[in-house]
Amino acid sequence: MTTGAKPVGAEDEAAAARAVQQMFDAIAPRYDLLNHVLSANVDRLWWWRTARRFRTVLERPDAAVLDICCGTGDMTMALLKHRPAGARPILAADFARGMLSRGARKFGAGERKAGQAYAVPLEADALHLPLRSGSLDLIVSAFGFRNLANYEAGLREFNRVLKPGGQLGILDFSEPGGLMGKAYAVYFRRVLPAIGRAICGEDGPYSYLPRSVGNFPAPAEMVKLMGATGYTDAAWQPYTFGIAGLYTGTRSAVA
Ligand SMILES: C[S@@+](CC[C@H](N)C(=O)[O-])C[C@H]1O[C@@H](n2cnc3c(N)ncnc32)[C@H](O)[C@@H]1O
Repeated sequence: MTTGAKPVGAEDEAAAARAVQQMFDAIAPRYDLLNHVLSANVDRLWWWRTARRFRTVLERPDAAVLDICCGTGDMTMALLKHRPAGARPILAADFARGMLSRGARKFGAGERKAGQAYAVPLEADALHLPLRSGSLDLIVSAFGFRNLANYEAGLREFNRVLKPGGQLGILDFSEPGGLMGKAYAVYFRRVLPAIGRAICGEDGPYSYLPRSVGNFPAPAEMVKLMGATGYTDAAWQPYTFGIAGLYTGTRSAVA
């Protein structure tokens, strides 16, 4: 059974987390460019669909919302589109300062018109959130959860900070099956790392990506894990032939 991300050379969870943090800090200056090139901008559609799925919560001005593993902030920006003027700011958290500081330039109060919804950057580890238990209405994570050193611990920590009835959305890659899956695997495992290496100038991050997706629990396993860690109605909605997908669940009244 998979426990969490395992970057090459990381012997334990602390080392895995450090390796992930250093990797994202290193690629931060080129992260947005690479993302859009490698996904042919389909990533924008995925963020948009994820935000739309939670619009009922987002439209409530008092809703307490966390975008965890926010990185350079594109998921946060999609969530903000559904926030009314004067709404409580979204918390946008990440543990890689290089990523978070770029995000803050996009979603911070400084970039907004008076009254327009904004997000507050928070440098924090997803496995140890500096937030009160039962304080959040919604947690969203886009392409970050897969990088956690311990998936079960991550789901339990999110459960701790969600209110009973609070919602969780995890957008991440998966490995599609069938013929489409075979064709995609060639792109994902061979072409993508080569393009990443050419733009980024280093090998690590973009060979880590397909490995980390291969290591991530399959949808049925993730849904089961969510059920076992205190979420009701756990489900997975595939996006774009299952290349990516959205996990959703509700914090049960009894944790
Ligand atoms: C692939 S990026 C995704 C960024 C953004 N959400 C997006 O959709 O483009 C993954 C992010 O997760 C962050 N991350 C990974 N593990 C984390 C942890 N334990 N705590 C906080 N952030 C973490 C990384 O620093 C990185 O910025």
